[in-house]
Amino acid sequence: MTAPALELGDIQSGVLRPRPTPFAATYIILRIDDRNAGRELMRLLSTVVASAAHPASPSEDTWVSAALSFQGLKALGVPQASLDSFSPQFQQGMAARAKVLGDFGESSPEKWEKPLGSADVHLVLTAISPDAEHLESAIERARKAYRQLSGVTAIWRQDCNVLPGGKEPFGFKDGISHPAIEGSGIPGSNSRERPLKAGEFVLGYPDEISDEPRIPQPEILGRNGSYVAFRKLHQRVAMFRHYLKANAPDSQAEELLAAKMMGRWRSGAPLASCPMHDDPVVGIDPRRNNDFLFKADDPIGYKTPPGSHIRRMNPRDADVAGMVRIHRMIRRGTSYGPALPEGVLEDDGIDRGLMFAFIGANLGRQFEFVQSEWMNDSTFFGVTSEKDPVAGAGDGTGKFDVPRRPVRIATAGIASIRRHTWRRVLLSSRPPRLAMARRSLD
Ligand code: HEM
Repeated sequence: MTAPALELGDIQSGVLRPRPTPFAATYIILRIDDRNAGRELMRLLSTVVASAAHPASPSEDTWVSAALSFQGLKALGVPQASLDSFSPQFQQGMAARAKVLGDFGESSPEKWEKPLGSADVHLVLTAISPDAEHLESAIERARKAYRQLSGVTAIWRQDCNVLPGGKEPFGFKDGISHPAIEGSGIPGSNSRERPLKAGEFVLGYPDEISDEPRIPQPEILGRNGSYVAFRKLHQRVAMFRHYLKANAPDSQAEELLAAKMMGRWRSGAPLASCPMHDDPVVGIDPRRNNDFLFKADDPIGYKTPPGSHIRRMNPRDADVAGMVRIHRMIRRGTSYGPALPEGVLEDDGIDRGLMFAFIGANLGRQFEFVQSEWMNDSTFFGVTSEKDPVAGAGDGTGKFDVPRRPVRIATAGIASIRRHTWRRVLLSSRPPRLAMARRSLD
């Protein structure tokens, strides 16, 4: 069957298109206290959000995306029958899913930064610009617009900045792997991965399981939207460096251990093609830095351990229980906070980490499954007493297994080096759609 053409003009550019590089980004959360003001805001937003068909930003130098939470839909007056048609995970919100997601202890919802995770979070705006200056002037323009609307209040802002070399706070190059999506015309980053059905990411199209997956109703509201799980993850960089020092005899071995944990060298070069030494030229080459599978070349994981972050998060063609293709997500990570200077081993108390958006059409079998089964389950990949060494909810017990001939080595388990300060499930639906839905729902 030929894939149906995607209605790109009704899909947010931020859902399908990778971001410009370099870039600065800001997340702003708004609370809607007045339904009419909220609806007027939706109308205004429809003029600034770029669509996937016209990726040039209407505001020229800044790309804006918008996502509504379940509480946000309620604040806009979406009727109950429609609210009930959204996925249960979305309706409950991420705080209520803490047990499934492994958010406990320091990462438990009561410890999340306020107002994150609360019922006040209605609308999340993401603004992206090539640099902080352009971003600030665009935000000022937006601020003027929503300040005129009494009844809509900005309650939180997080500025993000890409660290030098496009690296995240642990020092790894980020933003490499993106799935190819059938009918989007936007290439994926791995030529060996068959494009995924569009319905895996955008509501209203056939997905990998069904030709007609259920979508929120009425169709005019659900179609062409996506679910987004936002997470703010604090990273304990000093602890990560200590772990490497404590478990490797010298700096070369530290780098190898770091690469085994991630599945990539810090340059971005994959262990799959550079198993023994880093190759920074491969790391920055988009034709080579994601062009690999696991099954034929490395079934045991001598190069890329089964427990490493990228192999857990996307086992590609490796033998794992279930179908990998129904658990894929679009992932956008943006660093916040300054880098911890090279060589510093003491925590300086400054908050730094990643703001994430995980985009997909099925929260249960994509974000939640990956987070609970592949990230935090010890036995999924045939390894025991392990969680994802980079992003899992480890407590320092357990171990990290590195298959090696003649015998595998196991380093000590690592306590969680990330702390969830916030995550919340949101629906992103392109504002023009919502404005139309408003009329049809009245
Ligand atoms: C602080 C926590 C985290 C850090 C530092 C981190 C870092 C990274 C890095 C450096 C990459 C490789 C770059 C790339 O492929 O674009 C990566 C890939 C990825 N991460 Fe994370 N990550 C974190 C948390 C998460 C979480 C919570 C999830 C999902 C629940 C996740 C899902 C993924 C996925 C799906 C990939 C792409 C794998 C592939 O296709 O090869 N990550 N991460």
